[in-house]
Amino acid sequence: MVGELTPVRIDVASTDRAFWNRFHELRRVRQNESRPDDPVQPDEEVETRMKKGNPFEFQHFYEISRDGVMLSSFYGETVTPRNAEYETNKHLFWADGYVRPDARRQGIGALWVPVIAKLMDEHGCTVVGMSTEEEPGHGFLEWLGAEQKLTEIESRLKLSEVDWPMLERWMAEGAQRSPQTKLEIYDGVLPASVLADFAPQLTSLLNTMPFESLDIGQIIVTPERIKDWNERQALVGEVQHTVITREPDGVISGMTDITWAPYRRTLIYQQFTGVRPDARGRGLGKWIKAAMVLHIRELYPDARWIVTENAHSNGPMLNINRTMGFKAYRTAVEYQMTREQLEARL
Ligand SMILES: CC(C)(COP(=O)(O)OP(=O)(O)OC[C@H]1O[C@@H](n2cnc3c(N)ncnc32)[C@H](O)[C@@H]1OP(=O)(O)O)[C@@H](O)C(=O)NCCC(=O)NCCS
Repeated sequence: MVGELTPVRIDVASTDRAFWNRFHELRRVRQNESRPDDPVQPDEEVETRMKKGNPFEFQHFYEISRDGVMLSSFYGETVTPRNAEYETNKHLFWADGYVRPDARRQGIGALWVPVIAKLMDEHGCTVVGMSTEEEPGHGFLEWLGAEQKLTEIESRLKLSEVDWPMLERWMAEGAQRSPQTKLEIYDGVLPASVLADFAPQLTSLLNTMPFESLDIGQIIVTPERIKDWNERQALVGEVQHTVITREPDGVISGMTDITWAPYRRTLIYQQFTGVRPDARGRGLGKWIKAAMVLHIRELYPDARWIVTENAHSNGPMLNINRTMGFKAYRTAVEYQMTREQLEARL
């Protein structure tokens, strides 16, 4: 039976309505399996974003379908030469596959192995990374021979349970302990004048995050790439809010940002929080996190949860999050393996 099934490459810019119908149906099955309580992003929004393409990533979409039903979807990506990360990241390929639950353990997932190998060879990639949150995913990746490299915890803060007086205290203490430091809040796209300082500071802080033994090359976020993200967000009405601290010499010493989107009004995604190593230990992390939650309460009274992800080993960030009341919600493990290790499974 599986012998009759073939992976088919999809050009999302020109594919037909029947593909999208199959794709969205499977997307709902997946969401229902992993995050049944979360709102589903509307079909048009997902299509618009997928069709936009990305100048900084080569993107590959595939499907395996039978009788008009999508049994499995696959996505793979790697950096393009236009991406400033190209030099250190061009050996890395990232892949994600999904097989609908009633079609599992029939060898469909294994059909993606030659596809990954071919794409890696086309791009000259030598390492592939894949992540999973579910038991079957772990079983499959172990069978594949991939190794666990990074454990990430998704935590959620229920806004109705927040200790508001504690956050007000963190605000007051932050200002008291660093009287020269200014707290700034930006709603929406960062002004160009801030972006010029923000992008290199974000780059340097992102590179201080623990990635355990994951091979990720270097992270380089340029103003050009942030503009591309902003365009992508604008397509679906997603809005960003940023809190930064600035030292008297103008240097950005801390930052945290969240996104809000119309289809998930109740869920706020907190993206990155970082404090410069030379400014740590002064309560800036608690100050910016508290300022952001208080700001969210004012802007989005119907928001119910703040969602964030941290490496399992990120003690300082997890410590602040746990004190705020963020509770572990799901655990994802990133696996990686070399092209040679993959060959053994071909
Ligand atoms: C991971 C996933 C894609 C596997 O799809 P699949 O079609 O069931 O995989 P296959 O049938 O080709 O499995 C190949 C081998 O992987 C291993 N494997 C797969 N599922 C397993 C499970 N639930 N428990 C233990 N081992 C498993 C087995 O060794 C299997 O060979 P076998 O059935 O002959 O013993 C599917 O379970 C899935 O969609 N999971 C959720 C999404 C996900 O976590 N994706 C991460 C991978 S990128």
